[in-house]
Amino acid sequence: MKDPIKSLSKYLKVSVLKVEKEIADNIKDEEKLITSTSGHLINADGKKLRPLLTLLISRMLEYKGNAHIILAVCIEFIHNATLLHDDVIDTGKVRRGKISANEIWGNKISVLVGDYLLSKAFKLMVRNKSIKLLEILSQTSIILARGQIQDVGNSQNLNLSEKKYLSIINAKTAELFRISCFLPTVITNQNKSVQKAFNNFGYNFGMAFQLSDDILDYFGESKKMGKTIGKDFFEGKITYPIIHCYKNLDNNSKKLLIKLFLKTKRTKKDLSQVLKLMDKTDTYKKSLVFLSKYTNQARKDIIKFEGNKDTVYLKKLVDHLIIRDK
Ligand code: IPE
Ligand code: IPE
Ligand code: MG
Ligand code: MG
Ligand code: MG
Repeated sequence: MKDPIKSLSKYLKVSVLKVEKEIADNIKDEEKLITSTSGHLINADGKKLRPLLTLLISRMLEYKGNAHIILAVCIEFIHNATLLHDDVIDTGKVRRGKISANEIWGNKISVLVGDYLLSKAFKLMVRNKSIKLLEILSQTSIILARGQIQDVGNSQNLNLSEKKYLSIINAKTAELFRISCFLPTVITNQNKSVQKAFNNFGYNFGMAFQLSDDILDYFGESKKMGKTIGKDFFEGKITYPIIHCYKNLDNNSKKLLIKLFLKTKRTKKDLSQVLKLMDKTDTYKKSLVFLSKYTNQARKDIIKFEGNKDTVYLKKLVDHLIIRDK
């Protein structure tokens, strides 16, 4: 099967090139360290999934101006700022198939360049001269930061409930996907029902996206993902596969999982033991079933746009979430 993200990028080529040019122009700075650090991440092979959603939905809604380009750039800048910060928080060593910025330039530079990109995003937003867009994007940045803080705060917390976990992934990931799909309905002044449909689609897509990221962290391949597999376990992060496995183990195995997870430092051998426990509880398949609740809902959200020829691209992206490997 052809990669639906690549096909979509090709389909939207004219707008994608505008977004890329705007991004390149906006990471140039008199301080060369800023240009090289942000360029290292931004010029790597990112999927650009969020800007692609914004561009596609703007097209579906027949938007005729330039605001969607600026929005797509803002969203990608916020995302890249988060990635720079995230690799500091998670001690990530590989990002987009390359050595991560924190590994090359250190944590201090990564944090500061992340702040720079976030500030650039806000400067760009002003160009749209819309308080409403500014309000939405700034609220999302707050939620995103809150999600990342809650994520860190719950490290090694095996009592983290499924409900709380879902609220954290909503904040740290689904929220940005939600507005990537919702903002095009704002710039085209859609009625409440259209706004709701794309808003919900973005939420469900984003939840499924983070769930698949968390599943792939145990069951994916580092080379394809372009980041280290197993790092959630090494970092002591509680994600859906761990919650599912823990809940479904017998008491003795539960004790083993607690012991492994609460060690000061977890090894590759510990990870393979956890994978065996996950095998017992059929965690891989069951996690995909759980994820499919969100993808099914996302498909339902856009049913009333079936008549629009571009809806097929959205549907292909949703299908891809279940089988993606990067
Ligand atoms: C990574 O996002 C962070 C998560 C929300 C899991 P992506 O997987 O979209 O990262 P890039 O932009 O393609 O590198
Ligand atoms: C994704 O969390 C949330 C972000 C906003 C970056 P992860 O920590 O799971 O992201 P990856 O797996 O490092 O890309
Ligand atoms: Mg993280
Ligand atoms: Mg991370
Ligand atoms: Mg991850």
